[in-house]
Amino acid sequence: MIFKMFYGIIILSIALSGLNADAGVKPVLSKNAAAGMKIFISQKLLKNGGAACISCHSVTSINIMGGTLGPNLSGVYKQIGENGLKFVLKSVPFPTMKPIYRTRPITKQERNDLLAFLKYSSKVNQSKGAGKINRSRGKGLGLLISGVSIFVVLMILLPIIWKNRLFTVRRSLVEKL
Ligand code: HEC
Repeated sequence: MIFKMFYGIIILSIALSGLNADAGVKPVLSKNAAAGMKIFISQKLLKNGGAACISCHSVTSINIMGGTLGPNLSGVYKQIGENGLKFVLKSVPFPTMKPIYRTRPITKQERNDLLAFLKYSSKVNQSKGAGKINRSRGKGLGLLISGVSIFVVLMILLPIIWKNRLFTVRRSLVEKL
C-alpha cells in the first residue's frame, strides 16, 4: 500500500517536472531556417552569385564564426525586427553590401530562408542570454533530471528491499522448523 502511494507520488512529480521542462524547449531549426543557414555559411550558393554572408558576418549564438567586416548577426532579428530584416535583405541599404548584392540580388526564397535562419539564431541568442524565461528553464530541466534519477534509484532499490523482506520471513520460518 505504502509502496503504491510512493510510486504514485513519484510518477506525479515526474509528470509535473516534465510539464515544467517542456516550457523551455530549445528553439527548433525549421526547414527554412536550415536552408537559410546553408546559404549563410555558403554550403548552398546564392542563386545570383552574391558573396556568402559568412565572409563578413558571424552568428556567434550558434557558433558560426565568419568575417569581421560586418556586425555579428546573433541577435539581429530581435534588434531590427522582421520588417527591418526584410528591408535589409531586399534593398541592402549598406554601402559595404550594396555593391555586391545590387547587381546580384538575393531571391525571394533565399530571403525567406535567411530570415527564418536569423530568427532562429536570435531565439537561440535570447535563450543563451540572461533572459527571464531562461532561469526557469534550467530549473525545469533540473527537476526532470532529479525526478527521473529518484525514480531510477527507487526502481533499483525497491526489489532489493522486497527481496530482503522475503528473505527474513523465510529465514524466520526456517528457524521455526
Ligand atoms: C562584403 C561584406 C558583407 C557581406 C558579404 C554581407 N554583409 Fe551584411 N553587412 C556588412 C556590413 C559592413 C554591415 C554593417 C553596415 C552598417 O552598419 O553600416 C552589414 C549589415 C548587415 C545587416 C544589418 C545589421 C544591423 O545590425 O543592422 C544584416 C541583417 C546583414 N548585413 C545581413 C547580411 C546577409 C544575410 C548577408 C548574406 C546574404 C550579408 N549580410 C552579406 C557586410 C557584409
